[in-house]
Order: sequence, then structure tokens, then C-alpha cells
Amino acid sequence: MKIFLDTANFESIQKYLELGVVDGITTNPSLLFKENSDPIDAMKKIVKMVDGPVSLEVVATDFDEIMDESLKLASYGDNVVVKIPMTADGLKAVNALTKKNIKTNVTLIFSANQALLASKAGATYVSPFIGRLDDIGHDGLSLISDIVQIFSGYDFSTQVLVASIRHPIHVIESAKLGADVVTLPPEILQKMIHHTLTDKGLDIFLNDWEKLKKGFPNIGF
Ligand code: G3P
Repeated sequence: MKIFLDTANFESIQKYLELGVVDGITTNPSLLFKENSDPIDAMKKIVKMVDGPVSLEVVATDFDEIMDESLKLASYGDNVVVKIPMTADGLKAVNALTKKNIKTNVTLIFSANQALLASKAGATYVSPFIGRLDDIGHDGLSLISDIVQIFSGYDFSTQVLVASIRHPIHVIESAKLGADVVTLPPEILQKMIHHTLTDKGLDIFLNDWEKLKKGFPNIGF
């Protein structure tokens, strides 16, 4: 399973890229708004920082304007994936962009039927938002299970990119269900790194090493 970072924060992107665990980036207008810098410059910079796929979202809602924005976003780099909200005009744009070999990520997916249609239109990725479904009392992970089952049954090539992840258990369960990608806010990735027993165990090792050094003062690697 691939791990993308769901952020437009340059420091976080740099920090986690260096760990070698991040395969790509997803952004959206809300994440860009949080950073409070020129969004076009920010998107161009992120595309250059990362070798893997970077999802950049259109804000147009009618077909011609979606196409215009998509072609501009795609020109920022070969690794750009154009992120398009799940609407009829959006599907039409996905179909047209696929014919031009431009990768797409259909976002704001909340049902298996939406995912099925996005895949048929040619989407490279679909982004079901599981946390937002959980927030309203639905079961986000069961949507992932349904989409994975449908795509694998018909050999669809569209990748299931699990978005709106709220906690590390969402990641484990998505992996167990066979999702292709999870996109994580940096704080969730940070939580995945840590375990209290790891911290405790490291303290014990370091304390014992200090005690050992008392008997062997010249010890060194
Ligand atoms: O990529 C966007 C998606 O992950 C949204 O997450 O937390 O705003 O529901 P959230």
C-alpha cells in the first residue's frame, strides 16, 4: 500500500520525504488555505519537491473551465494528478483528460456508485472520504471494502486512495481491506511512528549503556 501525505505544508513534506515512507502528496483548496501562501506558487513548489504523484485540485465546476484549469495544473509537472470533484461535469472532464493521458483523482467520493462511475470514466484514483462518513454516523471503512471488492471483481485499474483519515486504525484497516493508497495528515503519520513501549524500551537501553560505560570509560564506536 502506498502512503501519500495530505498536506500543502512544505516543512512537513520535506521532513517525511526524508524518512523514505512517503510515495506522493495530495492537496486541496482547504489545505492550501491553511498555509496562507500564494496557492499557485505553493502547488508548483510541491510538484518539484516530490518525485511521486502530486494531486492538485481544480476549483472550477463547469466542464470547459475544469478542462482549462486541469490543463494548466498538468503543465506544472509530469507527476501532477489532477484532482476533480465528483460531479457530472467532473466525470466528463476525467473522460477527456484520460484520453490526453493526464492522470486524475476523483475526490469527494462518498458512495460505491460514485467510485464505480469515476472508474468507468477513466479515473487513475478515487478518493473516498472515510472520516467525514464516520462523522455523520456512517461506516467509512465499509465503503472502502465495497469499492475494493467491486474494482477487484471487474479488474478495474483505478486505485482506491483512502482520504479523510482521522487516526492510525483507519490506516491498518485500509491496508487489511486492500486499499491501494492512504493519504495521511502529517500528525497521523507521526502517531504511526510512535509507540510508548518503543520509547520505554529505548530509555532502558540508553540507561543500561550509561551504566556499562562506568565500567569501560574509554568505550567508543
Ligand atoms: O484530501 C482531503 C481529505 O483527506 C479531507 O480530509 O479531514 O478534511 O475530512 P478531512
